[in-house]
Amino acid sequence: MANFRLQPTQLPFLDNVCILEAVDQSSASIQLNAQHKLLVKAVGYHLHPTIIQPHLPAEPKVADLGAGTGTFLVDIANQYPSTAQFDGYDISDVAWLPPTERPANVTLHLTNCKKPPPPALHGAYDLVTLRFLNSGMGIEDWHPRASHAFQLLKPGGALQWIEANFAQVLPILQSHPDAVTSASEKGTVRAMHESPHTDWFVANLPPILDSLGFHGIKQNVTRTDRLPETRAELSRLFFGALYGILRRMAASGRKDAWTLEEAEEIYAEMLREVDAGAYVTCDLHQFFAFKPL
Ligand SMILES: C[S@@+](CC[C@H](N)C(=O)[O-])C[C@H]1O[C@@H](n2cnc3c(N)ncnc32)[C@H](O)[C@@H]1O
Repeated sequence: MANFRLQPTQLPFLDNVCILEAVDQSSASIQLNAQHKLLVKAVGYHLHPTIIQPHLPAEPKVADLGAGTGTFLVDIANQYPSTAQFDGYDISDVAWLPPTERPANVTLHLTNCKKPPPPALHGAYDLVTLRFLNSGMGIEDWHPRASHAFQLLKPGGALQWIEANFAQVLPILQSHPDAVTSASEKGTVRAMHESPHTDWFVANLPPILDSLGFHGIKQNVTRTDRLPETRAELSRLFFGALYGILRRMAASGRKDAWTLEEAEEIYAEMLREVDAGAYVTCDLHQFFAFKPL
């Protein structure tokens, strides 16, 4: 089996983009939204009860780093008074929900979260959330990103950080004994081999949080296949992202890349296998931590 451990410098196709990236940018928002809804179902909550009680005030100020579409913030905003404040930060506005689909108290900002937050935002937030950023992060990025979250939080503020461990998406699984997984396995190996993913954060994020002064650090883990009824749809989304990688490899003209036709053929077969019961899954790690009062 291929080695998916990440070297930060080996991310030619995935620097600053989503693993569940759309095949073309115009569908990025639709794909991220579909992914968001399914992953919220798999995790089972928007904000974990540990975070809400007793840490969040009735009208919280919340920052989401790498906010994608902003849908996550909109979902949470709908559960709080209009006087609460929700700020999403992302390096790209390509997937943002249009302003008409965002309540007035959800604001999206074009920001490179690799850079430290400005002093004016230090201690500004009751809650900082981060979700599904590891595809665009190298090993060297985790400490700064956690440190920025710490700076943004008020004393007593909470951190909720959820990441998928793409290092273990193989083997492709069968939902029943007749399901065939060969094309899905082959396409996944080829695409993931080119864009290796790390599980480095699993063991290393908690000590980083600890070293920064966070307390009450906890890690929960569930799998994307926790709810069997979401397996096929999540697999189609994931394979759509892999197809995007295979297409970019083909377009790069590299000798070892599949042609566009070969990529299309294998992708079509992967989707047929999903229809027949093959599915992909990975662990979802949820980290919770608090800034001391
Ligand atoms: C997989 S998407 C996840 C989006 C969102 N958190 C969600 O759960 O749907 C990763 C997001 O991180 C953003 N991103 C990548 N690098 C970034 C950076 N340096 N600063 C801010 N956002 C970044 C991407 O633009 C993308 O929207």
